Formats: sequence, structure tokens, C-alpha cells
Amino acid sequence: MSLGTLPPQVDGVQEAKPAPVKNLPMPGIPYFHPIQRPAPGTFLGMLDSTQPRPLLFTPITIRGVTFQNRVWVSPMCQYSSPDGQLTDWHVAQLGSYACRGASLVMVEAASVTATGRTTPEDAGLWKEEQIPSFARAVQAIHSQGQKAGAQLGHGGRKSSMLAPWLGVGVAVKEANGFLGDVVAPSPIAYDELYPVPREMTIEEIQECIQAFAQAAKRAVAAGFDVVEIHAAHGYLIHTFLSPVSNHRTDLYGGSFENRIRFAVEIVTAIRAEIPEGMPLFFRVSATDCLENGRGWDIEDTVKMTRILKGRGVDLLDVSTSGLHPDQKIAVGPAYQAPFAEIVKTQIPDIFVGSVGILHQPEVANHVLETGQADVVLIGREFSRNPSYVLTLATELGVKVKWPIQLHRAEPSYRGRRLLNL
Ligand SMILES: Cc1cc2nc3c(=O)[nH]c(=O)nc-3n(C[C@H](O)[C@H](O)[C@H](O)COP(=O)(O)O)c2cc1C
Repeated sequence: MSLGTLPPQVDGVQEAKPAPVKNLPMPGIPYFHPIQRPAPGTFLGMLDSTQPRPLLFTPITIRGVTFQNRVWVSPMCQYSSPDGQLTDWHVAQLGSYACRGASLVMVEAASVTATGRTTPEDAGLWKEEQIPSFARAVQAIHSQGQKAGAQLGHGGRKSSMLAPWLGVGVAVKEANGFLGDVVAPSPIAYDELYPVPREMTIEEIQECIQAFAQAAKRAVAAGFDVVEIHAAHGYLIHTFLSPVSNHRTDLYGGSFENRIRFAVEIVTAIRAEIPEGMPLFFRVSATDCLENGRGWDIEDTVKMTRILKGRGVDLLDVSTSGLHPDQKIAVGPAYQAPFAEIVKTQIPDIFVGSVGILHQPEVANHVLETGQADVVLIGREFSRNPSYVLTLATELGVKVKWPIQLHRAEPSYRGRRLLNL
């Protein structure tokens, strides 16, 4: 068959519109990939046209980047990186979320220094040689018309541990660990199973801020659309914020202003390295979940967020806890959304993301429709079901664009006989 003469029927369905006469390539991808336009996960209409469009499927624009829906993949470490690099495993996982409709795929935390890795197999962007493996994953995400996010982190006193499936224990030298180089604001271990960190000197703090900035520059070089700073879950930045883990008496400890200084300087340094139109996100543990007054709390988060907004943070990604073993958390559906809501209510001009057990369509939808957050980030449900966006759409009565190669599996094809196999 010559180009331009398509059969009148494709798979037994009469085409309503004239089909393109050529299998067009996705622009910007260095290998052939059929064009995904609009991107998978784009709203096409309500199955019942009397129903309103859910916010989950309403686009959102942050600086120069538009996301066609508000269902994002939360970063998830795979502990599978040789020398910090991403592999085929990452491309397969991240690609599966992208091709099935997640408008933003956050890649797992990339360490900004070799000794800031939580395990020896963490991903990292501490040297130029790591850029190509990230660029390959970004291309896989871009080939689906989706956006890619880099999360930059440093494990602090939780570094040089074993991959979680080996249990909680330190990674010794023979396991490629680096226990002598574990650093934190103060020499206080998370608990007896974790290493006792060395207190960072002022010079090391300055070097670490520069390491964040350089890693952000590498993320830009790898093609990422978004950068996020990981300041949650008891890792290095969080340990500076909380008075429980920061006992310093210099410029980086003591008062609230001093404890947030490290975070503020990282934000400023990164903003100077990334394009004006690139969104900058900040993941925070909104509370240490310790008894009142003992740790970092939601009031501190709100106060800091006002300052970070002024320094160029566009979205606060609201998680909680991870700082201290005494934490008390009531875990359940949307359990962290109330903290997102407090930030959203008190600082209406910053975008807010909610994360944590948003695994049922009605729960995820409720968080946005009640104004608790602007977007949802989903972790483990994407691991269980990479089609979660398509599941959400089906459950909420929304018709969305499917990945072009999988179009014959769309719900409208269910039960139909296929022609032209
Ligand atoms: C295997 C695994 C790895 C994770 N790695 C990261 C990470 O690299 N960065 C981060 O900020 N959170 C990380 N998290 C936390 C998730 O991003 C998310 O906040 C958490 O799983 C709660 O969301 P969920 O209930 O939808 O899974 C990880 C979670 C899991 C399960």
C-alpha cells in the first residue's frame, strides 16, 4: 500500500476524521517514536456530558511548563544504580508511568554527592558522567509527551545504609559503604541502627550548597523540565531545619532563621542555575510528628514557605515525618492532605502538592476538589498499577487519550473483534 491510501476502516471502526497519511515521528526524540499528541492522560471529555470535568484532569501551568493533568508520579528510590547511574530498569519503570498518562514523572532522588547516598546503589548527579543515563530516562518520558522531574537530595545521617530489602543496617566498606563520610548538622544518630554522623564544618556546608547547584545544572543538561529539592524524611536538609537534629551554635543552628539558612541558600543557588521558566519544587516534611514544641512543625513550614516562595520556589510538595523514631503518625487515606491544606490556605499564591495514600480515585479527587492541594503525587499505587491515571479516568467517568500504540486496548474497544492484525 502506498503512503496516503489508508483502508476505510481501521480495526473495524469507521474513522470519523481523515487519518494522517504517514506515521509521524515524535518531535525532539532522536529515534523514531510515533507522535503522542495529545499526550496520554489528556482529557477528551466526560462520558456523561452533564458531569463536570474533575480537577485531576484539568491542566495546570507552573512558570513555563504546562501539565495536561494533575496526577504526578512521586519519586521512588530503586536502589539499583551502578555508580549513581540510571539503567534499563529505570527506563522501563518510569516509561511505563509516562506512556500510561502521568503528566509529570519524578525520577527518584539523585544524590548531589557520592557520600550523600542513602545506599551505595542510590542514583546520583554528582558528576558529569552521570548525565547521559538520566538523559536517556528523560527522553523515554518525553517520547510520551510527558514532563520529567529531577529530585535532588542528600541523605545526611541516613547515608551509607543497606537497600531496604536487606533490612535496616549500615553499609560497611565491603558493601561499598562510606561510614566515615556520613555527615549532618550535629553528631546525632537517627537511632542505634544508623551511623553517628560527623558534624559538618562551615566549609562543608558551603560545598554542599554548591553541590546542589551543580547537580541542578546537570539536571538541566539531562533535559529535565522540573527540579525538586528533597528537604523531607529526615535527610540532610530536614536535619538542619529541625531543632531535634540541629544543635549547632553557629549561623546554621539555633534560631529558626539560622536553621532554615541551609535550605534558603540551596534554593537561591539552584534558582541561579536553572532557567527562569523552569519550575522549582521543594519537598518538605511539614511536621516531625513529635509532641508539641519538640520538633519542626506545621507553623514552621508555613513560615519557611513564605520565605522560600520569595526565593523562587513554585510548589511545596507536602509530606511529613522521617526525622525521629518517636514520631506518631495516624496513617490512612490522604493522611498528609490536612498539612497541604494549611499551607494552601495560608499562602494561596504558592502551588501545593499532596502525597500519601491517595490510592483510591475518590480520595485523590476529593483532595483537589476541596482545595486541599493543586496536584496529587502518587507513589506506591503507580508501582502496583502503572495505569493508575487510566484507572482514575475510568472510575471518574472521564475519557482520556490513550497511548497511541495501545489504542486498540482502550475501553471503547472492549469486546470488539480486531481486524488488520
Ligand atoms: C520504594 C520507595 C522509594 C521512595 N523513594 C523516595 C525518594 O526517592 N524521594 C522521596 O521524596 N520520597 C520517596 N519515597 C516516598 C514516596 O515518594 C511517597 O511520598 C510515599 O510513598 C507516600 O506516597 P504513596 O502512599 O502514594 O506511596 C519513596 C517511597 C517508596 C515506596
